[in-house]
Amino acid sequence: MKITVVGAGNVGATCAENIARLELAPEVVLLDIKEGFAEGKAMDMMQTAAIQGWSTRITGTTGDYSKTANSEVVVITSGIPRKPGMTREELIGTNAGIVKSVVENALKYSPNATIVVISNPMDTMTFLAARTSGLPKNKVIGMGGILDSSRFKYYLSQAMGVPSNDLQGTVIGGHGDTTMIPLTRLASYQSSPVSAHLSEELLAKAKADTMVGGATLTGLLGTSAWYAPGAAGAALVASIVRDEKRVFPCCVALNGEYGQSDICLGVPVVVGKNGWEKIVTLDLTEAEQAEFNKSAAAVRSMNAVLDTL
Ligand code: 2OP
Repeated sequence: MKITVVGAGNVGATCAENIARLELAPEVVLLDIKEGFAEGKAMDMMQTAAIQGWSTRITGTTGDYSKTANSEVVVITSGIPRKPGMTREELIGTNAGIVKSVVENALKYSPNATIVVISNPMDTMTFLAARTSGLPKNKVIGMGGILDSSRFKYYLSQAMGVPSNDLQGTVIGGHGDTTMIPLTRLASYQSSPVSAHLSEELLAKAKADTMVGGATLTGLLGTSAWYAPGAAGAALVASIVRDEKRVFPCCVALNGEYGQSDICLGVPVVVGKNGWEKIVTLDLTEAEQAEFNKSAAAVRSMNAVLDTL
């Protein structure tokens, strides 16, 4: 069993490292188009194995997709990341061509793989992968909501002074600064609503901070974040290859669920060996549904750009 990560930049390498350390497969293949880059990152990671005590084999390749043959999961992180002041949406022209070619090449060698999309703009890249791959819809999953939900829990935890893993919180909708919807009403701390612990003002701030969480990091780092995106990708891969059936908010093809069709958008799904196996229906208020519809409209107009490229 093999897992491929395409793109050996910050996000791809961090994702591959998490997958290796969790020993999710005997072999992880890291692929990049930059000469020697994936080989170098793979070798560097392999030289931590004896220190950290894991036995996954990581191999790197400069664009040789035959090395990725028979992968159970292919994680796509390739494309350019955003720079300070850029939106994820501005990456579409460059990244659409890259993601399309990665999907085609990867599926040539692993026709039954599940595709995990991390490249931005993630909702549109997931839609593109779903449309061009010919895979059953359950085998294409965009990662964004896991990352955004973890950021949401982080901001809530900071405001409340409690560990973020004692919090429950879900972000649905798009993976964009104005399209994601942190569901403050449903967030909870050990079974009590966070609204019992935070003022309306602080809750609204946690929501707003979450929405620009990626942009805040891009401003600080000069490029987009990688630790949380990489870890989120690996968590998704873990639930697939171990058939964990975890519920994660992920970007998936909707067919009437949440009132939307012909779009890939973030909703909670059960993730297992068959990819996303079931959409979990949350009982949204009218206002939340209206936010979701607005998010869908924005993502839909971004998807329309694909037809102009
Ligand atoms: C982020 O939000 C890379 O889109 C990713 O940091």
